Amino acid sequence: MTAPPSIEIVSQASLKGFNSLSLPSSAEFFCSVTDEHQIQQALDYARDNDLTVTPLGGGSNLVLAGDIAGLVIYLDLKGISCHEFDSDVVHISLAAGENWHKAVEYCLEQGWYGLENLSLIPGNIGAAPIQNIGAYGVELRDYFISLKAIDISTGEVVVMDKQACEFGYRDSIFKQALNNRFLITEVTLALSTRANINIGYPALAEALGVGLGQDASTPKMVSAAVCAIRRAKLPDPEVIPNAGSFFKNPVVGSDALNELLKANKTMPHYPQDQGGAKIPAAWLIDQCEFKGLRSGNVGVHEHQALVLVNFGGTGTELLAFAGSIQDAVQERFSIALEIEPRIYGLNE
Ligand code: EPU
Repeated sequence: MTAPPSIEIVSQASLKGFNSLSLPSSAEFFCSVTDEHQIQQALDYARDNDLTVTPLGGGSNLVLAGDIAGLVIYLDLKGISCHEFDSDVVHISLAAGENWHKAVEYCLEQGWYGLENLSLIPGNIGAAPIQNIGAYGVELRDYFISLKAIDISTGEVVVMDKQACEFGYRDSIFKQALNNRFLITEVTLALSTRANINIGYPALAEALGVGLGQDASTPKMVSAAVCAIRRAKLPDPEVIPNAGSFFKNPVVGSDALNELLKANKTMPHYPQDQGGAKIPAAWLIDQCEFKGLRSGNVGVHEHQALVLVNFGGTGTELLAFAGSIQDAVQERFSIALEIEPRIYGLNE
């Protein structure tokens, strides 16, 4: 039997090509891994040399604020397998390094439905559970069964179900109590072999030319419509570096909502089950006149006020600009905007 290939550790590696904001940053040490065995090798190396480990996936929800000390592990695991469940549902296991959108397209081709509203979300499979990716009325957790992960400090392999992942709005246990504690290697989803159309999101129904909640469409049509909306509004990171939505949509309580609506009668808001409402951060930022604004080498996208774009600046410059947006929204609306992507390399 041939020995599995050894990993190659590179020192002072540029991460500019590994983050969709194209921010300059270098990893003290870097390696790419393609299977579980290589991950264990990388973790052994980090343990032996007392290095902090930073996992890296597609890099599309990441702000690199500076250089990264320790070992950056790029998760390049590939593979999609299908486990028949019953005639209506299939369980699909996807390796962490598979591209999210390509996986959505592959599933659609196979007749495995459910992910079409999540078409064209940038990034890889492994990052999807971390922020519980969502768009157009669907979130990853709606189709999630379990994930496989490796404990960075012990190398132990664990399987976590939906409850254990503690999913929330753009949130999971991996952004909270287990922040940077695990490397996610595989995600298992339950998809439907019957079309399961969800067009409860007004912009999507409009793009499909049907009434809200009606389903006179096929999953492929829904996917095409989602792609068209995203392409029209969101900048392609290959052309204009960005990390998607830069802030979460804030939720305000009912008293604050009433005050806000008194002063801003046309403010869009989405009532929440627990009371109060979610306010589009894009609207708040737009009202503060940041849309399309450029500040030095960073700016706000001209078609979507929630997306910050990089014209060649640094992470520090981008975060300072984000801070000025947060200050303006706080000043005018008394709302604290929370940054959505993960920030690495702060104060290093
Ligand atoms: N709006 C403005 N100005 C703008 C853009 C939007 O005022 O420049 C207002 C409009 O009233 C609009 C509302 O904001 O109706 C909501 O905008 P949109 O439907 O584009 O969605 P969003 O709330 O800005 C969220 C997600 C996106 C996801 C879309 C579609 C978050 C933080 N963002 O954006 O997710 O694609 O809904 O479901 O929840 C991401 O997470 O990276 C991301 C792109």
